[in-house]
Amino acid sequence: MAKIKKVFVCSNCGENSPKWSGKCHNCGEWNTFQEEIIAKGDAREEKKKVYRSSGKAKESTVPVVLPDIKAGNTQRIVGPDEELNRVLGGGVVQGSIILLGGQPGIGKSTLLLQLAIHLPIRILYVSGEESEEQIKMRADRIGTPSSECYILTETGVDKIINHADKLEPELIVIDSIQTLVSPFIESAPGSISQVRECANELQRYAKETGIPIFLIGHINKDGAIAGPKLLEHLVDVVLQFEGDRNYTYRILRTVKNRFGSTNEIGIYEMQAAGLKEVPNPSEILLSQHEEILSGSAVSATLEGLRPMLIETQALVSTAVYGTPQRSATGFDLRRLSMLLAVLEKRCGIQFGASDVFLNIAGGIKSDDPALDLSVVAALISSLEDIAIPNTTCFAGEVGLSGEIRAVNRIEKRIQEADRLGFEQFFISKYNTKGLDLDRYNIQVNTIGKVDELFEALFEE
Ligand code: TYD
Ligand code: MG
Repeated sequence: MAKIKKVFVCSNCGENSPKWSGKCHNCGEWNTFQEEIIAKGDAREEKKKVYRSSGKAKESTVPVVLPDIKAGNTQRIVGPDEELNRVLGGGVVQGSIILLGGQPGIGKSTLLLQLAIHLPIRILYVSGEESEEQIKMRADRIGTPSSECYILTETGVDKIINHADKLEPELIVIDSIQTLVSPFIESAPGSISQVRECANELQRYAKETGIPIFLIGHINKDGAIAGPKLLEHLVDVVLQFEGDRNYTYRILRTVKNRFGSTNEIGIYEMQAAGLKEVPNPSEILLSQHEEILSGSAVSATLEGLRPMLIETQALVSTAVYGTPQRSATGFDLRRLSMLLAVLEKRCGIQFGASDVFLNIAGGIKSDDPALDLSVVAALISSLEDIAIPNTTCFAGEVGLSGEIRAVNRIEKRIQEADRLGFEQFFISKYNTKGLDLDRYNIQVNTIGKVDELFEALFEE
């Protein structure tokens, strides 16, 4: 006879408890316990009936010495999307589970539907969010589908697995994990125990059959993937799709990758016909005006391993109201306050009575410390109303005592600036070790402290 069991589950770590409590005794978070109904009947026995085992699973495993394990059967599915391949570390590994998270409307469904359409293998695209007609409409805009792209609108994880058993696809896409339901859990779709149970089932299926599965995951308001942290531990790769919805650029980041580096990023532009890869981001992100204006400085940043030249714009103006405003878009506001304090203390430049606005062009967010130097340059340039030539760029971290500190991979940054025809590059004087500057056309200037920047820029 079916027995209904109620438990309280921690939404942070997934810990179960028969009683509610204010603080999770496992992870220490407060107010995270939610009531859920777990088992419907004798789950284990019923599960065996529902999921037909595909028979490819090993009976049991025995310990093997490492040198005896044969390598080389980690085949990857390499798609036509270069950016995605790079982010995944060279393609989709067989039997892997890849979780793609991102804000609503950022383009998660578009990215994976695009992959499904352009990959010439048999694909099962499961959607619990959109109808077949809606997917068809979107697909028509993106391109001509390959003949082996199957669409399934279904939310029952057991039914999806049964369909996959019959269809034998080479790749499965699930849009999204929060819409799936398992017949063995009574709580609502998207609840912690549902997400965990469905992800577990799919992971088991992927490992048994070797079919890679993409899972789309919603994120909560803090930007973390909704559902238990356990979900992120369970999957092999976690990708994060970011960007500002008001701009067209999107960045695909690797948060976790069991089969490659987490330093890679992919850059896309959202167009009327889907997401387009952006192979040379620097050329687009530099602003498109011809005349040189004060308050603008170009920074040679690194996103992952990719050098990217982006423009920082500052506007310093007299504060009309009592309290001066400080605002930053794409840059940490506290970091801006710190840079202003350093300028005030170390160079005697007063911003106390001014409004300061800072903007990173193109809706890009970056936390590369190398941005500091160009932010400082843009601030000084705006305050003094002297323009910095648009063939000059910067890379350096500013320390609390006003020293310019070295940044990583300076050579890559210089190469990129050189390639784009920049003429002057300001870096930290501590950053020159092992640099062969004769190889470049660009002139590299070194500075040690912020107060030298003003002279170096404007007093020649
Ligand atoms: P979508 O992939 O549905 O986002 P998500 O699954 O992450 O919620 O698409 C997001 C937006 O992209 C949508 O608001 C419309 C826009 N879009 C385009 O601009 N061009 C296109 O070709 C497509 C398919 C979508
Ligand atoms: Mg979607």
